[in-house]
Amino acid sequence: MNEKNKAIGVFDSGVGGLTVVRALTERLPCENIVYFGDTARVPYGVKSRNTIEQFSTQIVHFLLEQNVKLLVIACNTIAAVAGSKVRALAGTMPVIDVIGAGADAAVCATKNGQIGVIATTTTTNSNAYARAIAERKKSCRVVSQACPLLVPIIEEGWLDHAVTRLTLREYLPPLLTENIDTLILGCTHYPLIKPLLAEETQGVALVDSSITTADAVANALAERDLLNEQTTAPDYRFFVSDIPLRFQTIGERFLNRPLEQLEMIALG
Ligand code: DGL
Repeated sequence: MNEKNKAIGVFDSGVGGLTVVRALTERLPCENIVYFGDTARVPYGVKSRNTIEQFSTQIVHFLLEQNVKLLVIACNTIAAVAGSKVRALAGTMPVIDVIGAGADAAVCATKNGQIGVIATTTTTNSNAYARAIAERKKSCRVVSQACPLLVPIIEEGWLDHAVTRLTLREYLPPLLTENIDTLILGCTHYPLIKPLLAEETQGVALVDSSITTADAVANALAERDLLNEQTTAPDYRFFVSDIPLRFQTIGERFLNRPLEQLEMIALG
């Protein structure tokens, strides 16, 4: 198979990474995509580094067997604690992750240098965003808030719901009192509640790393002369480790298109 026609491999702990797939289909409409969501073992955001590394290794092996040309870590939690492991397994294959892309966008967006991050507990404890931002611009100050209730609320489909608003009113004030002008949505589930977040953060710039991740993928493919030039419709295949109730509905909401070619496979 021609290298350029190979698919991009995208993975997440569950359904959240579909927000990145959506951005990729809009930015790179000729690319084939293989997605893996570990729906049987989600959430990762409360699990230890060792467990996440072990699960990520299994996912990467699966995607490499699918003969992909580039890997996208579409999960902040995996990128935060297992990014190096994934890169070691990928060898010379390019690996793009949501944290690098989000840090790039936040550093460009901030005017006062005060950046907030909302994320899962594991991502917050890892300090991965603070490190990624310090590497790009030392003068920026990063304040983080773990929001463990948001993933289950979003999985429930409560995107514009009183419970979601009340939850945000618990989580956001500690960040807002720090005078942040930019807020990174440090979990791939959060773009789904962007309208509510915008209302509750009054004029703070929201960084949705799915869009910057798609840009980073486009650049990485162009640099290596790997952009797909096919004129036929792209092939999208979705693999999950479980098909929970409402997966189809929630997945289609994340993806903004019908979720076809969905297959369940067991890992490990
Ligand atoms: N998608 C994950 C992330 O971006 C959050 C979901 C989970 O806890 O597994 O961090």
